[in-house]
Formats: sequence, structure tokens, C-alpha cells
Amino acid sequence: MEELLPKVSVPDEGPVTAKRLFGLDKPLHFEIGFGSGEHMAARADMLPDHGFIGCEPYENGVAAALAHIDDFNGLGPLGNVRLHMGNALEVLERIPDGALSFVYLLHPDPWPKARHAKRRMMNDGPVHMIAAKLKPGGEFRFGTDHPVYLRHALMVMQRHRDQFMWMCNDADHFLNRPGGWPETRYEAKARGQGHEVWYFRYRRY
Ligand SMILES: C[S@@+](CC[C@H](N)C(=O)[O-])C[C@H]1O[C@@H](n2cnc3c(N)ncnc32)[C@H](O)[C@@H]1O
Repeated sequence: MEELLPKVSVPDEGPVTAKRLFGLDKPLHFEIGFGSGEHMAARADMLPDHGFIGCEPYENGVAAALAHIDDFNGLGPLGNVRLHMGNALEVLERIPDGALSFVYLLHPDPWPKARHAKRRMMNDGPVHMIAAKLKPGGEFRFGTDHPVYLRHALMVMQRHRDQFMWMCNDADHFLNRPGGWPETRYEAKARGQGHEVWYFRYRRY
């Protein structure tokens, strides 16, 4: 945390661009609440020419992600990842509109009680910002195992149907994890408990 985090942290102020973070323009991916960072690290390993920004306020998660970045599966350091230990929306709002190729929201905290629904990341404000930051043709991936959250998310995304196309032609598309979508720790835990997991891919118009 002391040595590596300052080197890979998103700057505290100013615009957040690929050029500023990585020295050159490249496709940018943004993960909200990466947990322990295994999905982010696996995606960064798959796409070494792309830049990844991960945000997570949970300190132990950031420490685990740093370990993945420092040495991914014994393959050495990942140079294409930057982190923010804190609220993802603070960084998202500093990204220029249309700059992101991918946004990931995987197993967000469910806040299952109706009176806490406003705290869910999947709400009109954050989804509107995600839409603004994605480029046309960019992709928003959302996964959950929580039935209450699922229903809420579908209603929110229905309200944003002029901004996103749900890439789903049959049930297989949301019942099975798509290729290029590494499993997260939380997802593995949910499956271990016998939960169904649902996968959503939305294309920005
Ligand atoms: C249930 S965990 C899922 C973690 C990981 N995505 C996974 O699938 O294993 C939800 C995570 O979202 C993080 N989180 C909650 N609010 C956040 C916010 N405003 N910005 C970034 N991360 C947030 C939490 O700290 C937590 O680690």
C-alpha cells in the first residue's frame, strides 16, 4: 500500500484521461467497486493495450488488487491499471464525456431494503453519468445474484432505453457468463451458496 498505491493512483484533481494516466491515448475501461480486483486484473491481462481504472473504497480490497497488479498469476506486473481508493463517482465525473469504452458494475452492494434503494449504484443519476462517459458503441456490463437488485436494475435501465441497447436475444445471454467476463470473487461466493447469477451487457447508442 505504501509503495505501489501512490504509483498507480488516479491523480486527486483534474481531468482523468488515458493520456494523463498512461502517457498515450488508448481504450479506457472503468470498474466500479472492484472488490479484490480479480476481474479487473484478468481483463487488464487480456487487453494489455487498453487502460483500466478501478475504484474501490474498501482498503483490504485495494491491497488485494495491488497484489494482482504487482504480479498477475506469476506473470509479472500489470502496467495498464490505475486505482482510486474511494467513491467511483468522484473519478467518473472527472472523465471527459465519451471517453470510456467499457464500464463494469459487478455485484454492487444490494441495499435490499426499499428505504435504502437510493443508495444503490444502479440509479438514474449514476446510470446517466455512465451513459455520458461511454463512447457510442461502448459497453456497460452489470452482474448480480440479487433478485431485488435485479428487478430494480431492469426498471432503471428501462428508463434509459434511449441511451442503451440491451444485448440480449435469448435467455442464455443473461443466464450464462459471457466470454471475456472473468468471474469475480463475489460471484463465485454467490454460486457456492447456490444462487443464480445474471449477466447484462448494454451497448451505448
Ligand atoms: C458486493 S461487493 C462486490 C465486489 C466485486 N465487484 C465482486 O464482484 O467480487 C460491492 C463492492 O462495491 C464497493 N462499493 C460500494 N460503493 C462504492 C462506490 N461508491 N464506489 C466504488 N465502490 C463502491 C464496496 O466497497 C464493495 O467492495
